[in-house]
Amino acid sequence: MTKSDQVVEEKCLEPALPATIQDIAKFEGKRVEIKGWLYNKRSSGRINFLQIRDGSGIIQGVMVKKEVPIETFKEAKKLGQESAIIVTGTVRADERADIGYELSVDNLVVISETDDYPITPKDHGTDFLLDHRHLWFRSKRQHAIMRVRSEIINACRDYFNDRGYILFDSPILTPSACEGTSNLFGTKYFDEDAYLTQSGQLYVEAGALAFGKVYCFGPTFRAEKSRTRRHLMEFWMIEPEIAYINLEENMEIQEDFVEYVVQRVLSKMKIELKIIERDISKLEKVKKPFPRVQYDEAVEILKKKGVDFTWGDDFGAEHETILTEEFDRPFFVHRYPAEAKAFYMKRDPERLELALCSDMLAPEGYGEIIGGGQREDDYDELLKRVREHELPEDAYRWYLDLRKYGSVPHGGFGLGIERTVAWVCGLHHVRETIPFPRMLNRMYP
Ligand code: 4AD
Ligand code: MG
Repeated sequence: MTKSDQVVEEKCLEPALPATIQDIAKFEGKRVEIKGWLYNKRSSGRINFLQIRDGSGIIQGVMVKKEVPIETFKEAKKLGQESAIIVTGTVRADERADIGYELSVDNLVVISETDDYPITPKDHGTDFLLDHRHLWFRSKRQHAIMRVRSEIINACRDYFNDRGYILFDSPILTPSACEGTSNLFGTKYFDEDAYLTQSGQLYVEAGALAFGKVYCFGPTFRAEKSRTRRHLMEFWMIEPEIAYINLEENMEIQEDFVEYVVQRVLSKMKIELKIIERDISKLEKVKKPFPRVQYDEAVEILKKKGVDFTWGDDFGAEHETILTEEFDRPFFVHRYPAEAKAFYMKRDPERLELALCSDMLAPEGYGEIIGGGQREDDYDELLKRVREHELPEDAYRWYLDLRKYGSVPHGGFGLGIERTVAWVCGLHHVRETIPFPRMLNRMYP
């Protein structure tokens, strides 16, 4: 055997290590096997450039004609987008590549061939893409958004898990409303009327009195007849609830929490934020303390800007957008007129017409991402509110009980995951923030 034969033989024998694209840096110079799909390709006469995706990322595979069997080269050249493939090759550093590495491909096995994938690199309309949502999130940008969503959810859970909160799941099928009766999705619970939950709050209040600090995280439902860029019919919410806190302490937890989530995405999701083309200098400013603006002051800001607004109304999306122009980071609007808010909110003893509540508004026009506040903890006051709001007393008996047995000042909040993802990713519309959006007039796929 000559020396050069030995080299070839050794090269062929080196076993391929199973690898994922997100961890590819660990394999520099090594021969790896990647199980994935063909994202895109381009061929010159002598080289096939294969964009390979494996779910964790995209890498460019370079297949040189004279380095692989001729059948392999021809097969790769005619492969359609989204064909399933297993590729082996050697990882090489390349600073021109998005992820900093390329793959010198030496073998390719086709698992299943595709030749008419509907979402091509050209532009498609939003309706077409939403009709193909089951495929759309394979696309680079959508894929990156879903990965950021996943990291945001992990960060939310870690924040509370690491700080002594107990996960306390709330039911999805409920006998009563939490956030007003106008947008309930009704269903039947055998012979009884039931509703899909709008919020787990009432249940986590029971949890807080049992465990001190709890949170629930789950899907929530609102039949909102509004077609805006921030409304979904089904969205996910994380709702912590804490015993023995007041409104100010509640806001302190929120700013610490949101700073943590944003800074974690900034440190762990660099590649994804780059793909989405997010201006991260805006996110770097998300550091506490967040400004606090009383509702009254917010109304003054609007009036100064020439907006016709009546004290007592709740802010609409357009008002929030105008308010966000004043700040470079999230901020709180607190002490809204009680009349405009939910029945369970505690009144401000200093001004009984105001509720001890706050919303957190995200900057850059995004608006409300969190709603929360201190809860009414007095039995008689709460019963009065239930009656004023014409809620069925019977369905709230258990909730009123919480004010009879060991009632304490308590509060909490709910952060909407989709609005948070939209803001962190800098997206125009919440429809791109959840795998399968439920919108007015769309429940497919
Ligand atoms: O302000 P909301 O209605 O507050 C509550 O449900 C309280 N019970 C939460 C609590 O104190 N535990 O909703 C909270 C958040 C909003 O700030 C927003 O981020 C999100 O939930 N949200 C929606 N997101 C998408 N589509 C919708 N239709 C939403 N409605 C609310
Ligand atoms: Mg709200």
